[in-house]
Amino acid sequence: MRIINEVNSFDPTGSLLLEKRGESDDFFAVLLLAACGKPENARRITQQQAVESAREAAQDAFNSLSTELAAAIAEGGPVHAIPVCSSKAGGLIQQVADRRQIKLIRLTDKPRNPKHLAKDADARAIDLFRTTLGQGGKPTPMVESSADQSLVVRIPITVSAPLCLQCHGRESEVSPETLAAIRQLYPDDKALGYQLGDLRGIWRIRLPVAD
Ligand code: HEC
Repeated sequence: MRIINEVNSFDPTGSLLLEKRGESDDFFAVLLLAACGKPENARRITQQQAVESAREAAQDAFNSLSTELAAAIAEGGPVHAIPVCSSKAGGLIQQVADRRQIKLIRLTDKPRNPKHLAKDADARAIDLFRTTLGQGGKPTPMVESSADQSLVVRIPITVSAPLCLQCHGRESEVSPETLAAIRQLYPDDKALGYQLGDLRGIWRIRLPVAD
């Protein structure tokens, strides 16, 4: 029910109504987004649709990054993959965003690339996801509606595979060459010291819902 509460707590304009159907826990809620505050022009989008569409976009971007990463590692190990990731990751994510006509970014409280520092609501989402994980729970995406009638979905990113540790693990687990490559490109790097299963950050997806 957290997602519904999250959405419910937002609505400074009163243009967003929330209908909760049934008592089930699988967030069967409907957002009524009224264009110019006229209920007759309301356009419906379920939270479930928003989350699904955001999940697909994040998966798409993750696949695209993973393919590039695997190819670069196969070619010359993680040392070689660092500069490849550095120069290509942003562009690959942007391509997915453009294709889907959404906004898509990775954010974290411990960034490698300082452009990815999470603030405000993003930082709060990270805290919440981490608390949930720490309590043995499974963090689920959060949906929020903004004043410009877009929906923002935040999806947790965890250190899901041993591969991640080659570049985000404890310093003792990362090869000296890889460490040197990281330090050269990211002198302010904060993205080391993770363990498998840790929360690494979030995908933040902004979906336009108004025509
Ligand atoms: C070959 C080294 C390498 C591997 C393996 C790797 N990363 Fe990264 N990661 C990087 C680099 C370099 C950046 C910075 C990219 C940039 O400048 O946009 C980064 C950035 C990120 C970011 C964006 C936030 C930030 O700190 O800038 C996330 C989230 C992330 N990695 C998660 C993962 C996860 C999860 C895995 C495993 C599935 C993984 N990484 C595997 C090198 C790696």
